[in-house]
Amino acid sequence: MRGRFITIEGAEGVGKTSNIEFVRQFLQATGKTVAVTREPGGTELGEKIRSLLLDRENVDMASDTELLLMFAARAQHIYEVIQPALDRGHWVLCDRFTDATFAYQGGGRGVAAERIAVLESWVQRELRPDLTLLLDLPVELGLQRAANRSEPDRFEQERVDFFHRVREAYLQRASDEPDRFVVIDAGRDLKSVQHQIGDVLQEYAAA
Ligand SMILES: Nc1ncnc2c1ncn2[C@@H]1O[C@H](COP(=O)(O)OP(=O)(O)OP(=O)(O)O)[C@@H](O)[C@H]1O
Ligand SMILES: [Mg+2]
Repeated sequence: MRGRFITIEGAEGVGKTSNIEFVRQFLQATGKTVAVTREPGGTELGEKIRSLLLDRENVDMASDTELLLMFAARAQHIYEVIQPALDRGHWVLCDRFTDATFAYQGGGRGVAAERIAVLESWVQRELRPDLTLLLDLPVELGLQRAANRSEPDRFEQERVDFFHRVREAYLQRASDEPDRFVVIDAGRDLKSVQHQIGDVLQEYAAA
């Protein structure tokens, strides 16, 4: 049986990377074989593309270049990691996926969603996440958390209105696809965030 494809999404500093190990352990405890990966990246080639995307020296990158690099990395990721794992019956857990492209390149940069959807169909064919955990948090709080953690990358140095558009685009997608998305209140402490995620997974893994 094909495995399930779960993505974890949200803007800067909401806690995606902090929670992904918890999700992995939770699913493993229910007997699933889990592959954990991330975007942009997840393959050797994809991680090189990630470096190009996050490098602050690439000051003049066109929105379409950024968009195509995201999908170039994704094509490799699907081919090399995601599809083979799903075909083996493994569950795939991915830190960001195409919802992030709709949120950042779409909401943030203003690329029309229709153009992103063309690439989504072209690169992914039928592949879509089965479940998406959207960690949601007021923008300022996420940026504060991210700033405490490390130097800003090419995205993190954007102005605050960019991240408001990113957040709105994520929330809009969640309300457009309520069967796939679960919105998690990421403004609480880590334990409480994990409690919410655990409740969702408990129900999902049993179904
Ligand atoms: N619930 C929480 N309460 C307080 N701090 C948190 C919480 N979750 C994560 N953090 C802290 O916030 C910072 C950002 O978390 P993390 O790196 O997991 O976010 P992220 O969503 O992966 O960010 P990015 O989008 O930049 O990859 C880290 O320093 C982490 O320790
Ligand atoms: Mg992260």
